[in-house]
Amino acid sequence: MENLLDGIEDILLMGPGPSCVHDKVYEALGKKSIGHLDPYFIRIMDAIKADLRTLLNTENTLTIPMSGTGSSGMEACFVNLVEKDDPVLVLINGVFGMRMQDVAQRLGATVDTLEFEWGTPVVVDAVKTKIAQKHYKIVAVVHAETSTGVKNPVAEIGALLKGSDTIYLVDAVTSLGGMEIDMDAWGIDAIYSGTQKCLSCPPGLAPLSFSNKAVAALENRKTKVPNWYLDLSLIMKYWKGATRAYHHTAPINMHYGLYQALQLILEEGPDNVYRRHLHFHHELVKGLEALGLSMLVAPASRLPMLNSVRVPEGVDEAAVRSTLLREYKIEIGAGLGPLAGKIWRIGLMGHTARQENVTRLLTALKANLF
Ligand SMILES: Cc1ncc(COP(=O)(O)O)c(C=O)c1O
Repeated sequence: MENLLDGIEDILLMGPGPSCVHDKVYEALGKKSIGHLDPYFIRIMDAIKADLRTLLNTENTLTIPMSGTGSSGMEACFVNLVEKDDPVLVLINGVFGMRMQDVAQRLGATVDTLEFEWGTPVVVDAVKTKIAQKHYKIVAVVHAETSTGVKNPVAEIGALLKGSDTIYLVDAVTSLGGMEIDMDAWGIDAIYSGTQKCLSCPPGLAPLSFSNKAVAALENRKTKVPNWYLDLSLIMKYWKGATRAYHHTAPINMHYGLYQALQLILEEGPDNVYRRHLHFHHELVKGLEALGLSMLVAPASRLPMLNSVRVPEGVDEAAVRSTLLREYKIEIGAGLGPLAGKIWRIGLMGHTARQENVTRLLTALKANLF
């Protein structure tokens, strides 16, 4: 009988995620499963919480990986914090800001938005004016907008909200592990990420952290969290304290993978990891520009881990991606929404951000485009 797994090729993952996975993480994923209440597994859980706190620069007790992909982290933040008619402001400059708006609206929040041109960052002064006009329970923004390659001014928006009772909610799916996040200093109250970007794990877990302010909002809800699976007040009984209570069966081996991926980042040193991302981003941009290509985003707002490149006039962008995948075993991403057909999205996430990968892609693009 054919086994489809035998046909899986070694693809260089240079798209918007998933990213390349280190062999040590694959080895970790293949270790024997143990029980989700085994005291040894609880030690691994505690180590993951501590490592996530280090990477996020936070003291928050409620810092855990949610079961599910990045979107489960997004849902978890909103579903635990939003009650019907709560005023929420979502800052939008790409697909994932739009997804936040959708999630908050489905929960019955009164959602206002501030929208910015795709490929440009959120403008801090516009946020300042908006929050002076109306009080919001939550202000939400995406740190690294994967659909465009734009870095949003998360620290500056946090500074506007300091001292207020507004909850500051940040999407760090693409940024965590690839650029600095200073959760406590930046005044972030709720944050979520995903394993398959700069943490260089396969998809499957969503690191999440809540400040005391966010926990208080959860504890003081007038109504029950309307989703049993994502209710953090229930989930914390499994992740905290001397006696751990079953909530759902934790995806054991994914936690092994995340544990190992975090170890790799902490061993290299987070600052070195961020510098490596930035260095190979500059190398890639230099190489792309030498090929006559231009970047979508202005230099000051470019993400190191997600590079949006304009497709030159007359080039069939899908054909280029398909040749790269078929003949060169390299995956890059297409544009989304208004940028479909107009850009390629080249990821340099986590373990992918290495010289050999930059060189291999530039060589393949050169052979293909000209
Ligand atoms: C910024 C951002 N937020 C949220 C998500 C959703 O994560 P997932 O696809 O893992 O559910 C993604 C995925 O690409 C993302 O890039």
